[in-house]
Amino acid sequence: MSKPAWQNSLIMRAARREPVERTPVWLMRQAGRYQADYRRLREKTSFLELCKTPDLAAEVMLSTVERLGVDAAIIFSDLLLILEPMGLSLDFAADEGPRLGNPIREPADVDRLLELESIESLEFVIETVRKTRAGLDPALPLIGFAGAPFTLAAYSIEGGASRDYRIAKKLMLSDAGAWDAMMARLARAVTLYLNAQIDAGAQLAQIFDSWAGCLGPDDYRRHVLPHTRSVIEGLRPGVPAIHFAVGNPALLPLLSEAFSQSDRPAIVGVDWRVRLDDAWTAIGPNRAIQGNLDPVVLLTDPPTIRRRAKEILDQAAGRSGHIFNLGHGILPQTPPENVVALVEAVHELNSKVRTRRKID
Ligand code: CP3
Repeated sequence: MSKPAWQNSLIMRAARREPVERTPVWLMRQAGRYQADYRRLREKTSFLELCKTPDLAAEVMLSTVERLGVDAAIIFSDLLLILEPMGLSLDFAADEGPRLGNPIREPADVDRLLELESIESLEFVIETVRKTRAGLDPALPLIGFAGAPFTLAAYSIEGGASRDYRIAKKLMLSDAGAWDAMMARLARAVTLYLNAQIDAGAQLAQIFDSWAGCLGPDDYRRHVLPHTRSVIEGLRPGVPAIHFAVGNPALLPLLSEAFSQSDRPAIVGVDWRVRLDDAWTAIGPNRAIQGNLDPVVLLTDPPTIRRRAKEILDQAAGRSGHIFNLGHGILPQTPPENVVALVEAVHELNSKVRTRRKID
């Protein structure tokens, strides 16, 4: 049987740090509220209902990929859905973001977070993977995703958005036993969940540690790194993983350390608080890198967007293993034409860079 076309896609090659003819690009939150037709759909359907209707979730992402001309799809879903079958209630109040009903407040509550025994209760996400894969250009890879154990633990404890992550950090610092039990349970759940996404047709897995930046390196190393490493080690062999955190460049070498020695292509996702070339030095040359345009740049205008995209491509300097992305998700206020302008600029700018190199 011949290899599927996506094996040789730009993103899979960049993940393996093989040379590519141009830098691949996809964007976190490429489907969402910045799009008029997404907002229209949301007038009739709540966000949770949308996530739980695989036909709609797949269609939202497939139409976005086609419109933007990006080099990958990510499943349309949410980080927090896994917490429902683990015993927490989830809802998205208008303009307030997620709320978890019965948060884990004390060490004694940790046992209320249930072991995810099977993937059955998240079958709708697995069906979204199948449907998105079936509708996607076979030359493009599909990215599955989950929250990292820390971000899921912190949401479960805080119960929603937080300014200082005080309750979660207090539990972590004051009861290492309860904390580790909770993190290990989440790590097992996330591993099961990501492997089910991979088995259903996802080619890469992104692990979002959106809140990890609130920790210093020593606490990250002690209380978080072993658990995220166990997720990555448990993934199907050879499947590339993207490990992404936000808000603290001092964690970059540790994000890189979460990959053990194996033949799994390792990609570290970086935000805009650090230059891409410095980030690459921090994570080491044997890692691929994803990032790192500030999403606020997309609120400006196409010439500024193009200039700022070029600065990042210049920092990558033609090295193998760069996947262009934002440093965090697209903001709802973003003009859709600016998103298209970014994708076009990345496609065009670096084919120019490479042509010039050849002539030199
Ligand atoms: O990237 C994509 O296009 C795929 C879809 C995707 C969503 N959430 C859709 C979504 C992905 C990859 C996520 C991950 C996610 N969800 C993260 C990690 C990434 C990050 O932003 O750090 C987090 C922390 C969540 C939890 C979550 N979901 C929050 C905090 C919110 C509210 C934030 C907001 O923008 O209001 C959501 C809601 C959410 N997830 C929306 C979308 C399209 C908006 C829902 C709506 O009102 O329609």
